[in-house]
Amino acid sequence: MNDAQMIQTDVGSALSPEELSEIDAELAHVPYKSGAAIDALKIVQAKRGWISDQSLQAIAKYLDMSAEELEGIATFYNLIYRRPVGKKVILFCDSVSCWICGCDGIKQKITDVLGVDYGETTEDDAYTLIPVPCLGACDRAPVMMVGDDLHTHLDEAKIDALFPDKNKKAGGSS
Ligand code: FES
Repeated sequence: MNDAQMIQTDVGSALSPEELSEIDAELAHVPYKSGAAIDALKIVQAKRGWISDQSLQAIAKYLDMSAEELEGIATFYNLIYRRPVGKKVILFCDSVSCWICGCDGIKQKITDVLGVDYGETTEDDAYTLIPVPCLGACDRAPVMMVGDDLHTHLDEAKIDALFPDKNKKAGGSS
């Protein structure tokens, strides 16, 4: 067995053939392997929901990087999750335009309704709340993403409507 086969076999225990093939497709577009680091992290995260230490090590090995180098990239890029997240991630914009339009109050409303602060996941694993610098929809502030859906011009009524079950629970009524 040559070195290339060895790496493939070792990595295969942590990364699926589908993941490897998608990473290979990205590698075809970059001059050096580490150039595909973010895409590789996104590919694996899309399949698994987050990047475990085992996944990180396997990706690093496949890209001829050290785990520390890849960890640095994963940590810098705040949409790579290094801990398990809920079924849907709430990306809540707390940047200038949204702040001017009252995002602090909306964030507090979300915390009251879902019972989570930034970086936390609801008890039923439905949602994880994460702050993001800007979602590029400043003209419709305040905004947030829930999963793949963008929600704009947020106010407390919209939060109630988005999370009706949770709101009932938070209100304590049966
Ligand atoms: Fe919130 Fe740009 S500042 S979307």
